[in-house]
This record gives sequence, structure tokens and C-alpha cells, in this order.
Amino acid sequence: MVAILGFSRERIFDAVKDMYTGVANAPELPYHFPVGRDACLAVGYPQEVLEGLPAATLASFAGVGYPFRAGAIKEGDTVLDIGAGSGTDALIASRLVGPRGKVYALDMTLAMVARLRALAATVPNLEVLEGNAESLPLPDASVDVVTSNGMLNLVPDKRRAIAEIFRVLKPGGRVQIADIVIRRPVTLDCKTDPKLWAECVVGATIDEDYLAAFRDAGFEDVSVLREFDYFSHSRSEHTREVARRFGARAIEIAMRRAPHAPPLWVQWARRADPRRAVRAVQRRGLAGAAALGAAMLACYGTVAATALLSLAGITLAVKGGAVSAVILAFGALAVIAVAAGVRKHGRYAPLATALAGGAVLSYAHLVNFSFAVEALGFVAIGTAIWLDHRARETPVSVRKRGAGGEGAATS
Ligand SMILES: C[S@@+](CC[C@H](N)C(=O)[O-])C[C@H]1O[C@@H](n2cnc3c(N)ncnc32)[C@H](O)[C@@H]1O
Repeated sequence: MVAILGFSRERIFDAVKDMYTGVANAPELPYHFPVGRDACLAVGYPQEVLEGLPAATLASFAGVGYPFRAGAIKEGDTVLDIGAGSGTDALIASRLVGPRGKVYALDMTLAMVARLRALAATVPNLEVLEGNAESLPLPDASVDVVTSNGMLNLVPDKRRAIAEIFRVLKPGGRVQIADIVIRRPVTLDCKTDPKLWAECVVGATIDEDYLAAFRDAGFEDVSVLREFDYFSHSRSEHTREVARRFGARAIEIAMRRAPHAPPLWVQWARRADPRRAVRAVQRRGLAGAAALGAAMLACYGTVAATALLSLAGITLAVKGGAVSAVILAFGALAVIAVAAGVRKHGRYAPLATALAGGAVLSYAHLVNFSFAVEALGFVAIGTAIWLDHRARETPVSVRKRGAGGEGAATS
């Protein structure tokens, strides 16, 4: 999940509010993401669902998918739309729940709240809430369904927002969400750029972590109904490029709230599962660095331990062959990790450097040992890992397109 520095949180909220104030008040301007009625159709709303919706509401639509695919809402339900924007989904939900039901439309951007209030004046079962997804202004177990479209990726503390969804839902309550997820972790420079957050790309979470966060919080039957390339509809080459770089795309998901939240220790145990840590290391392209670190620890750790113990008068009997075998095994793993990067970015320079480093390391341990030659092997493999990491941040599909695109559209 996303952890960002305290000072960035407020900047991100401000950037998101600025962006969606623009979408509320001037939807006709060009944005980096699809807006309006055409955007509804592009992300999957059937034409007939949009019939009769006010033009002003549709004009400021900025959703990223069609959450109603989940079919979670029934007549008479109480529904909460979080990040309701100008109210397209809230209005569709108000039709589905009918006069016996109720829809709360919540947003934190005042200009969107103003649009929602104008809409609610004509829709009796629609109530507007100004508030933040991280702290919902509703009592526990008060709604049957939570719906949301393109909002959670914009929230800095997603676990808190998910815990809030759990809190306000009745046991067995349903969730339908359309949102943005990514395949590769976002680099820190992008993550702390508030403008990129507001464009729905870099605030997004890795798909696997996103779904796991809901399961950790106590949601069941979490299912992905559809995934698609939302950003191909963006008019900005820059946004399309950033989206490709991180494998960003839209998903539509559905789930159910379990009767009880898992105890805290179960939630922590799930988060601490070593298999998740291994997958996270792999996804971040850090497997090579971890293997090289282990090789260097085996080498210099053994030297340091032997020296320290000898100061205390203890002689450590170290089998040089065994230590060499461990160092070479971890060195080989580091080279394999770099080789795996070729499939992702299509560049051979990191692999060639890693193979050279591996050869030098092998020479030092199998032919003629010298600390200097061994260190040279480590440095070469370290350089290869660094080159691989940089190349992974710019996959081949992005590099091929070059930097000569149209540039960022203004908003
Ligand atoms: C991408 S827009 C989608 C709006 C709407 N769901 C739609 O489909 O048109 C995201 C909306 O979420 C709101 N939002 C973002 N972060 C929020 C938060 N932390 N709490 C409440 N609303 C938030 C924004 O103000 C914006 O209106």
C-alpha cells in the first residue's frame, strides 16, 4: 500500500481538489483523462443507462469504468457513492434503489459537492455529503452497498479508506468499484508528484496488493469483473506513456463484507506473510540486489566475524570452499535476476555486465583468489543490477515511442 510523507498528503489532497474543481466547473477544457458523456461510453456504460441523465451531470463525469457491472444494488437499498463527482453513478443508483431506498453521494471537492447539491434538489432519495473517504461521516453498519468510481487511487491512505468502507457497510453488505491499478511499482519521484496523482496514475496500487488490502480488511468473494486499457482513451501522449510505464489500467471489482473484521493479529500476519515480501522484492526488481547483498554478506560477514572472534581469542574454523560455494551461488542468483530483466525491458547491456561480473567472481574463487578481483566482480554485478533497474523503469514499448510526443495537455 501507499505510504507517503506527511507533507505530501496535504499537497496531494490540494492537487486532487484543484483538478476536480476544474472538471466540475470547466469540463469542456482538455484533460489528461477522458471526461464527459463520451468518456461514459468509452469506459463501458450502456447507452440506455445514460438516457434521461442531466447533460450537466454527464458533462463532468470522470469515472474510469462501469461499476454497475457487479449488479450489487437492489431496490430499497441504502447506497453510498464515495468520490461521487458530479453524480452520474449516484443518479443511476438512485433509480435502482427506487423511492424506498436512499443514496448518499460523498465528495471532498467543493465544486463537485455544489454540482451534487444542485442535482439532489431534484432527486428526493439523494443526499449529499461533503467529506473525505479516509473518514466517512456515516455511522457503523449503515449502508447496504458502497459504490465508487475512480476514487480510491486518489486517496493517500488506502487502507484507512478501505477500513472505513468496511465500517459503514452492514454485515454482508456489497461493494462495486471501478478503479485504476498498476503492474509495476511507481518510482518515488513520480509518487510524490501531486499532479501525476491527480491524473489517476501514480496514486494507484499494484493490482495484487489492491485486492489483498480488501481481503485483509475482511472482505470476501473479491472478484475482478473486467480489466481494460483506460489510458488508451487519454488525449495526452505523456499520460499514456506514464500509464504504460507502470502498467496502469482500469479494473471493475465486486465483493462482500464479511460478518466480522478479522482480528488485528490476523490482519498483521497476512501482511507479514513472507511470500508477499518475496513477490514484492521481485516486482520491484530487487531480487538481484537481495542476492548480491547475500553474496557480499557471506564474503565480508565471514571475514568480519572471523576477525572479531579472533580478537576475543576464539578461532573460527571456516571452510574456504563452503564460503566460496555460497558466494558463487548468490552471485549466480543475482546474474539470473538481471537476466530475467531482459524479458521486461529488452536490453542486453545489464546482462552482459552481470555475466562479466560473474566470470570475474568465479575466477577469484575457482582459479586465483584475490580480494581485489573478487571486489571487482561484486562491483560489476552491482552495476549490472543498477542498469537493469533503470531499464525496467522504461520498458521497451515506451522507449520505442521516443520522447517526441505531443507533450502534456493542460487542464
Ligand atoms: C476520477 S473522479 C470520479 C468522479 C465520479 N465518481 C465519476 O464517476 O464521475 C474522482 C472523484 O473523487 C473525489 N475524491 C478524490 N479523493 C477523495 C477523497 N479522499 N475523499 C472524497 N472524495 C475524493 C474527487 O473530488 C473526484 O470528484
